[in-house]
Amino acid sequence: MEDRIVTAHLMMEDRQAELSLRPRYLNEYIGQSQVKDNMKIYIEAAKLRQEALDHVLLYGPPGLGKTTLSNIIANELGVSIRTTSGPAIERPGDLAAILTNLQENDVLFIDEIHRLHRTVEEVLYPAMEDFALDFVIGKGPSARSVRLDLPKFTLIGATTRAGLLSAPLRDRFGVVSRLEFYTEDELAFIVSRTSDLLGVDIIGDASREIARRARGTPRIANRLLKRVRDYAQVRGDGIITEQLAHESLERLQVDPMGLDAIDHKLLHAMIARYRGGPVGVDTIAASIGEESQTIEDVYEPYLLQIGFLQRTPRGRVATSAAYRHLGLPEPEQRA
Ligand SMILES: Nc1ncnc2c1ncn2[C@@H]1O[C@H](COP(=O)(O)OP(=O)(O)OP(=O)(O)O)[C@@H](O)[C@H]1O
Ligand SMILES: [Mg+2]
Repeated sequence: MEDRIVTAHLMMEDRQAELSLRPRYLNEYIGQSQVKDNMKIYIEAAKLRQEALDHVLLYGPPGLGKTTLSNIIANELGVSIRTTSGPAIERPGDLAAILTNLQENDVLFIDEIHRLHRTVEEVLYPAMEDFALDFVIGKGPSARSVRLDLPKFTLIGATTRAGLLSAPLRDRFGVVSRLEFYTEDELAFIVSRTSDLLGVDIIGDASREIARRARGTPRIANRLLKRVRDYAQVRGDGIITEQLAHESLERLQVDPMGLDAIDHKLLHAMIARYRGGPVGVDTIAASIGEESQTIEDVYEPYLLQIGFLQRTPRGRVATSAAYRHLGLPEPEQRA
């Protein structure tokens, strides 16, 4: 488990809070306007026809609101949602049991759908396409196949790794939407909204100060806000001012671009020891005492996304933007 304050993955401390902070309807769901506008139309149409919504695949990095949006879709449709996850469905029979218990037009939400077992996935195909389960009864020459009709339902699949989905599964979703990182404005709005829900006063540009450092991710914005709230309670009178927000985030070692101490360590190592690269991931890993896999999966994606790192055939390169951000002079000639 990662325990960086800037991790986009769900931490223990988020668990409780997230349930109460989750927007419940589309008009409370901030940002993602393209996805939202499309969903509005599909939902409206499904309701007019009194039919199940098409199957929906939501993909994108952790903490951007896939689970939240899935619950909202069910709410807006006015149907029940049954929640499970890819690895939790161990056998085809488990999925069959879930499917036969759905009511007409219900939503079945499968989180981490890229981790479905292959045998389970095969049960899902006819269920998604024909709303039916196929069984084989008996053995040998007397075996026959039986089809059981299912209630019409909407499958919502969520994944951080759309690339790992098999083509036949992906093709069975009528709506495929990618969630994007949030802008600073949107995150500032989310921070204000969360402050309201938590009953804390946040004034001036304090919400923006937090938003800037949240790495485009609502989950991180909310987590930082809670830490800043604690600081404001102990150091101030509980009101979050821009100054208090700034101070506490500095103490948490989250810089104005949302980089933490490990990001700094990685960039500094590349710059000080390898003139900013190109340098191989294994070499970087050894020089900062981390696993290469951890660098690739955990540390690198955000640095790549904000353009501080580049992947080249000869290794990773720290970009001019990274040098500028760290206030370091860029070497005239790279290795
Ligand atoms: N559009 C939004 N507006 C307001 N708050 C949001 C929005 N999206 C997400 N959040 C907040 O961020 C938290 C994390 O969102 P959510 O759990 O839906 O992310 P996720 O994409 O499912 O993450 P994971 O990949 O880890 O499952 C939510 O509890 C909610 O408080
Ligand atoms: Mg989720």
